[in-house]
Amino acid sequence: MKALVSLKDVAFQYPGSPKRAVEGISFTVPKGRWTALVGHNGSGKSTIARLIDGLLAPLAGSITVDGLALNNENLATIRRKIGFVFQNPDNQFVGTTVGEDVAFGLENRNVCRAAMQEKVARSLQTVGMADFIDEQPANLSGGQKQRVALAGVLALEPQLVILDEATSMLDPEGRQQIDDLLLRLQRERQLTILAITHDTYEASLADHVVVINDGHLVEQGPAATILSQSARLQQLHLKPPFVFQLKQLLIARGIQIPEDVNNEQRMVDWLCRQYNSQI
Ligand SMILES: Nc1ncnc2c1ncn2[C@@H]1O[C@H](COP(=O)(O)OP(=O)(O)O)[C@@H](O)[C@H]1O
Ligand SMILES: [Mg+2]
Repeated sequence: MKALVSLKDVAFQYPGSPKRAVEGISFTVPKGRWTALVGHNGSGKSTIARLIDGLLAPLAGSITVDGLALNNENLATIRRKIGFVFQNPDNQFVGTTVGEDVAFGLENRNVCRAAMQEKVARSLQTVGMADFIDEQPANLSGGQKQRVALAGVLALEPQLVILDEATSMLDPEGRQQIDDLLLRLQRERQLTILAITHDTYEASLADHVVVINDGHLVEQGPAATILSQSARLQQLHLKPPFVFQLKQLLIARGIQIPEDVNNEQRMVDWLCRQYNSQI
């Protein structure tokens, strides 16, 4: 699998801080896949996102994005390849209407009016917010605001979308809508996603999971492999996804569950099959 982003031995220390925020970080973000960056608060996730986007310069190590070394010369080109969605839906709304908000990034890139209108409409369509084009931010839910933020990012056609805890302030419905949207974008358009989260359920939707603890990379691998290690996750102050907690309780009762029952849908299917074979 081709790597879109590659970090090698990356370290960073904030000015005035007595210790490094991250150190020895090496991992790749495969092109066209969903990678989850997981870790409890203060572990260094946002720092890594800012390093990839060139907002911070590493103290040591190297970063490559889409084959380009992240340096001063390539900075502007690289930043155009990356779209960011942040945590707080209220801090990233810049327009007075939904349409203006999505157009903002395009205006900065001097896209002509006709092309801009077309891109705005298409992006809002993608996130299911086309009917809200003239709406004001105050009339939107948190989840709808995040979908508008994502539309603004998609309008710029980035190679990589980084979401830094973008669903953590949303209600379950808003969160579900963003998750469904991301899954669809990744599957249908092969969008590369780097989603930062401390929610292991959300991480379970990813292909690849990277776990950060106290500035160090401690685990990485396929989502099902990493997230089924309940004891290890607890050690890292992360709560295993519900499906693995349930699985563990059932296994403790002597019930054998196949390895590939590793998400909620598969668990439901498997339980129904067991139930139906009993009657
Ligand atoms: N602007 C800053 N100045 C100094 N220290 C910071 C700054 N931002 C974050 N840190 C510190 O760096 C470490 C990693 O923070 P961060 O990357 O924000 O973690 P996370 O996103 O995983 O919660 C923490 O110890 C945090 O206190
Ligand atoms: Mg953070």
